[in-house]
Amino acid sequence: MSNEALSNLSHEDRRFDPPADFAAQANLTAAAYEQADADRLGFWAEQAERLSWESRWDQVLDWSNPPFAKWFVGGKLNAAYNCVDRHVEAGAGEKVAFHWVGEPAEDARDITYAELKDEVCRAANALVELGVKAGDRVAIYLPMIPEAVVAMLACARLGAPHTVIFGGFSAEALSSRVLDCGAKVIITADGGYRRGAPSALKPAVDEAVAKVEAEQPGLVEHVLVVRRTGQEVASTEKDLWWEEVVGRQSSEHVCEFFDAEHPLYVMYTSGTTGKPKGILHTTGGYLVGAAYTHWGIFDLKADTDVYWCTADIGWVTGHSYMVYGPLANQATSVMYEGVPDAPHKGRWWEVIEKYKVTIFYTAPTAIRTFMKWGDEIPASFDLSSLRLLGSVGEPINPEAYVWYRDTIGGSRTPVVDTWWQTETGSILISPLPGVTSAKPGSAMRAIPGIAADVVNDEGESVPDGSGGYLVIREPWPSMLRTLWGDDERFKETYWSRFEGMYFAGDGAKKDEDGDVWVLGRVDDVMNVSGHRLSTTEIESALVSHPKVAEAAVVGATDEMTGQAVCAYVILREAAGDGGDDIITELRNHVAHEIGAIAKPRQIMIVPELPKTRSGKIMRRLLRDVAENREVGDVTTLADSNVMRLISEGAATST
Ligand code: WTA
Repeated sequence: MSNEALSNLSHEDRRFDPPADFAAQANLTAAAYEQADADRLGFWAEQAERLSWESRWDQVLDWSNPPFAKWFVGGKLNAAYNCVDRHVEAGAGEKVAFHWVGEPAEDARDITYAELKDEVCRAANALVELGVKAGDRVAIYLPMIPEAVVAMLACARLGAPHTVIFGGFSAEALSSRVLDCGAKVIITADGGYRRGAPSALKPAVDEAVAKVEAEQPGLVEHVLVVRRTGQEVASTEKDLWWEEVVGRQSSEHVCEFFDAEHPLYVMYTSGTTGKPKGILHTTGGYLVGAAYTHWGIFDLKADTDVYWCTADIGWVTGHSYMVYGPLANQATSVMYEGVPDAPHKGRWWEVIEKYKVTIFYTAPTAIRTFMKWGDEIPASFDLSSLRLLGSVGEPINPEAYVWYRDTIGGSRTPVVDTWWQTETGSILISPLPGVTSAKPGSAMRAIPGIAADVVNDEGESVPDGSGGYLVIREPWPSMLRTLWGDDERFKETYWSRFEGMYFAGDGAKKDEDGDVWVLGRVDDVMNVSGHRLSTTEIESALVSHPKVAEAAVVGATDEMTGQAVCAYVILREAAGDGGDDIITELRNHVAHEIGAIAKPRQIMIVPELPKTRSGKIMRRLLRDVAENREVGDVTTLADSNVMRLISEGAATST
C-alpha cells in the first residue's frame, strides 16, 4: 500500500457503534475477551461443546512439538454427523439447510436437513462402492450446485480428506493438485452455468486425468460426473454418472467416528514459490473454529436468521462459512450458483429480498463493483431484512465500507471486516458486531481466544501507532496442521521468520488505540479480487510459453480488484516481435496454465528486466511503472539504463 493510502487510513476517524438493540441481543459480549484472556484453553474447551463428540478429549492442546499442534487430543467425532445427522436427530429435519439459487434464474430449490442427510449418506455409500476408505483423498471440481456440499460431506463422513478445486482453475492446475495429494477419485460435472449459458467442466477433467495418467498411471481410479447442464461429454473408461451410482444407494449410512486430528481436507493456495501449498485442516479443531466464529462473529440465531455467504465453494471461505460453520450451527443459508450481474445487476439484492436474508457476507471487490454500478440498483429492492454485513478477502477501503453499511445495510447494520486466511481456517481478527465501535477499514482486534500482534523485524511487538508484520502468538484450534506432504516447507514458511510465532505474510499497522489495520501481503503473493495468486506461479506459466525467455510479474494497485496482475516479458530471439497477437496469446496461455483469474491485466514486452547485481529482479521498480509512478531508486541496478527502456516501452504499449 502506498504511503499516501497509509496516511489517509490513519486519518480515518469515523466510528460506528453497534445499535443498542443489536448489542442487547448479541451472542458474543465483551466478557468473552476477559474469559478467554483468563483461561484461553478453558475458553476453547467451552467452544468445543458446540459440537457433538462421540468421545471427549483428554487434553485441549498438545503443543509439545511445535509448530505441530494437536487439539482436543483423544476426542472423537464425525464432521458430517455434526453438520447434518445431529440436527435431524434433534427434530430439525424439516428445517431448510440451503435455499439453493441456481442458474437459470427459475432453477431454485430448498434442501432440508433431512434431505441433505439422505443425499450425504447415498453419496457416502457410493464412494464406499468405489473403494474409498478413510484416509483416501478425493478431488472435487464442481460448480456451485448442491452436489458440491453433498460430496464434501460424504468425504468427511468417510474420513476421506477432500480437496476442492475451484471450477475456474485450469486442467493443469487440477492435475497438479490431484497429483500432489494423490486423489483416487475426482467428482465433477458435465458443466455449470455462467450467465445463463452452459460452460463445460468435463473437458478440463479429461485433460487433467490424461496428464495424471502420464505421470502416475492408475492413480485416479474413477471420475464421478454430475449431470448438470446435459451438454455432450466425451466419456472415458474411468467415468461414472453420479445420478446412477449415487442414485441407487441406500440413504442409510452409519458413520464412523474419527480422531479429532484426523485430516478433514486439503485446500491449495498460492505461496511465494511456483508450487501451490496444500493447506491441511483436521477435524475437531477446525470445526470448533468454524462453528464458534460463525456463531459469534455473524451473531447467528439459527432459528430466525437467513444467512448468505457469496463465496465459491472452491475457496476456504466457501468451506468454513458456506459449509462447515453454518451447517454445524444448523443455519439456513442461501447457496447461489450464478454471477452478480446476470440476468441483471440487481440479482443479489433480488435474492436478499426474496429469501429475506438477514446476514450477508461478501468481498470488497464485489462491494466496489456495486458502488460503481450505482445506488439506484440496490435502492429498488427491499433490503430491510438485513441485520449484519460481513467483508472478507482483502482490505476494505473506508469508502466501500461506508457505502456498504449505508446503501446495503440501511445505515443500521454492523459491518464485520473479518481477517483470516486459508491457513487460519476461521476468522481471527474482526470486530464483535454487538460490542465493537468499528472503524471503517480496520479489522480491529483479535477475537476472543486469539493472540494476534504486529511485530517489527526483530519480532518485537510494535507500539501503538506503528506498523510491522502481522503474527499470531499462540496456537488456535482451526490452524493449519502442516502442508500436505511437506512439513519442512510448513515450518519454513510460517514459523521460521519469527521465533515461536505464526507469520501470516501480511503487513499491518496498530493505530493509536491499538486497533489493527491490515495492509496487504508483504511477500510475493498478490490479492486480486480477494483471490490469492503467486507472482512466481504466473511467471513460471509465462516462461513455459515457447516464445518467452523471461518474465516478471507484479501486483499493481487497481481500483476495482484491489490488485491487478501486470507482467513484463522478454521474448526469445527466435520469436522476433512475437507476432500481432502475442499479448492475447500470452494471456490465454496463463489462463490455460492456471485459470482465467490469473490472466494478466497488462503484459508488456520489454528488452530487459531490472536486476540487481546479484541477479534479483527488482519488482519494486516494475510496480512503479505499472502504477504510473515515477520510478524509485535505481542505484542498485546492474544496468541503470534498463528502467528507461522499460518505462518508454510501457508508455507506448498502454
Ligand atoms: C487477505 C481468505 C485485509 C490477507 C479468507 C490474507 C484480508 C489473505 C482480509 C488470505 C481482511 C483476507 N482485511 N486483508 N479482512 N481478509 N485478507 O487465504 O492478505 O484466500 O493474508 O483467505 O487475504 O487469503 P485467503
